[in-house]
Amino acid sequence: MRGCGIDIACSVPETGAVTMPLIDNLRAEARLAPTSGIEAVMDYGRGRSGLIPLWAGEGDLPTPDFINAAAMRGLAGGETFYTWQAGIPELRESLAAYHRRHFGREFSADEFIVTIGGMQAIVLSLLATCGAGDEAIYLTPAWPNFAGAAAVGGTKPVAVPLRSSDNGWVCDIDAIEAAVTPRTKAIFVNTPANPTGWTADRETLQAILDLSRRHGLWIIADEIYALFHFGGRRAPSFVDIMVPEDRILFVNTFSKNWAMTGWRIGWLRAHPSLARTFENLIQYSTSGVAQFLQRGAIAALDEGDGFLASQVERAQAARDLVCRILGDTGRVRFSVPPGAFYLFFAVDGLADSRKAAFEIVDKANVGLAPGSAFGEAGEGYLRLCFHRRLDQLEEAANRIADWIGKT
Ligand SMILES: Cc1ncc(COP(=O)(O)O)c(C=O)c1O
Repeated sequence: MRGCGIDIACSVPETGAVTMPLIDNLRAEARLAPTSGIEAVMDYGRGRSGLIPLWAGEGDLPTPDFINAAAMRGLAGGETFYTWQAGIPELRESLAAYHRRHFGREFSADEFIVTIGGMQAIVLSLLATCGAGDEAIYLTPAWPNFAGAAAVGGTKPVAVPLRSSDNGWVCDIDAIEAAVTPRTKAIFVNTPANPTGWTADRETLQAILDLSRRHGLWIIADEIYALFHFGGRRAPSFVDIMVPEDRILFVNTFSKNWAMTGWRIGWLRAHPSLARTFENLIQYSTSGVAQFLQRGAIAALDEGDGFLASQVERAQAARDLVCRILGDTGRVRFSVPPGAFYLFFAVDGLADSRKAAFEIVDKANVGLAPGSAFGEAGEGYLRLCFHRRLDQLEEAANRIADWIGKT
């Protein structure tokens, strides 16, 4: 019987009465939450000797010492009590200063809410804007978590595919417009994007903003890779074109810029009039982020621009190396990503990316994420995270190129 894990009906121990399997008593939205297609390959290949893991969305370096030291000082100093729901005032000030520095505009501390990673910022944004039976539009191929979180909350995620062209991935505004229904409440825009690297230009952002204004929709702007941009300057942002009253929620994270994926700390930026509501949503979910972790986050923002710049420089060299080696096979198609740290490439003749990712583990001893994990529009592609040491990347790319040559 489904859900019991064994092929018999479940029964209540004392009475012996046959009942529904426990799992069938859960909400359907929870029960039906899909398992990540990336995890499946990771579970298969994890722990293999000599495997080069390029499947997850993180780099190979641990968090820098100056960030760790600040958190440890907080912990040693007894910062182990309940704390501010929206984040400690010093961290919210540092977030405002960081945004002023990088986005060239005024920001105030009360626009920032500290969250458990970018993921909680996304969940809070959905909780605040979309309910059961509503719809939220997102662009695919896409990092699967937005659609997953929406569906778990009862909101229907509506995929609008980006188009792949000779000039890279293209966002079709008419296709977004066509996907809007009376139930649509939000559009999720991730730029620079995971997994494609698609980076919206200012005109595209303006067109999405105009569309959202016309239909009264919220934009959930995931610009977590805005500073992981290889054009010399940060990527274009909704911040550049918005007015304060626009319905835009920005989700962000410490994870990628400062090698802090395991810390689980991020932030949400919203109009200050919304801060109390988000504070309340935090109260009734996680009740805040550990105070000593927030001390590390302050160090990252205040002292971490140099580390971030060195990471972006390293990632750019890594991107160029991997693109050259795979491009030389003559059997792959990709657009060189202007931002984030992923190469999303199609291999001639590859129809089943999941099968290919398992085979690459077996034959090349390299871990990649299958394109199908990023939605239907990702089938035929593989995602490679190039945020890693150059010598290992060179080895990995050569092994993949060999595998391509033999398939
Ligand atoms: C596009 C995008 N948004 C949000 C996140 C979530 O970040 P965090 O690890 O801080 O939850 C990720 C992580 O991979 C991501 O790629």
